[in-house]
Amino acid sequence: MTATTTPAVRVDHLSMRYGRSPVLALSDVNLVVNEGEFVCFLGRSGCGKSTLLSLAAGLETPTAGRIDVGGRRVGMMFQDSGLFPWLTVQGNIELALRLSGVPKAAWSDRVAELLDVVRLPGVQHRRPHELSGGMRQRVALARTLAQECQVLLMDEPFAALDAITRDAMHDEIERISTERALTVLFVTHNVREAVRLGDRVVLMQPGPGRVASDLVVDLPRPRKMDDPDIALRARMLHDQLDEQSELERRSVAA
Ligand SMILES: Nc1ncnc2c1ncn2[C@@H]1O[C@H](COP(=O)(O)OP(=O)(O)O)[C@@H](O)[C@H]1O
Ligand SMILES: [Mg+2]
Repeated sequence: MTATTTPAVRVDHLSMRYGRSPVLALSDVNLVVNEGEFVCFLGRSGCGKSTLLSLAAGLETPTAGRIDVGGRRVGMMFQDSGLFPWLTVQGNIELALRLSGVPKAAWSDRVAELLDVVRLPGVQHRRPHELSGGMRQRVALARTLAQECQVLLMDEPFAALDAITRDAMHDEIERISTERALTVLFVTHNVREAVRLGDRVVLMQPGPGRVASDLVVDLPRPRKMDDPDIALRARMLHDQLDEQSELERRSVAA
């Protein structure tokens, strides 16, 4: 892959407590994501995945420790496209170009270019409600890329899509992140998706939110969801998740 050994995101003894919550949303998380690396954060609801991304984006302040992107430009994408419904596709992407300081004269060409990158040419004048869920996520991706980000934070961006559309989006994000040497932190609760996409899968665990394991996925790219090797590694991770649940059940029963 395009992963280097230059750290892009450093997480040092990172902990997060919301308000007076008795349980830490994150407890002493330590890891490094290198430039060009695609890391999937996998875990059940409540293990702190979204909190980790919010901290990486600087939307929240850690209770202790730090997360540092070394001044790199950060872009975010969520399950909901977050497109403004009253703006056309063109208007939505232009907004990001404007915020990135791209001169107005270049907007039109840049929008066309970005829509080519996400393989959705010619939809400039459509409004979000005229597009399918998959198309909206392609536009959301184009808008995020318009910010020229080096670090892409993705919080379950394909969770609401049907399986066929999701497979197509996996191919696109794999291609685009490789071409642009993006560093990607991708959150999911879908085991196969994590293995399909990640150079690494960081398995998290709730109560308090922490890292349970960190697995390198040394499979060649481009990958396909139905690769037997993906199924094999997904099985291992499923077993770890089942083990987590079993231990929790026992500690509640005790
Ligand atoms: N804004 C918030 N205020 C209070 N508690 C929160 C807030 N956001 C998340 N939490 C709590 O922090 C923990 C981790 O949540 P989150 O990061 O959303 O997990 P995940 O994305 O893995 O489902 C959960 O217990 C959740 O209830
Ligand atoms: Mg979440």
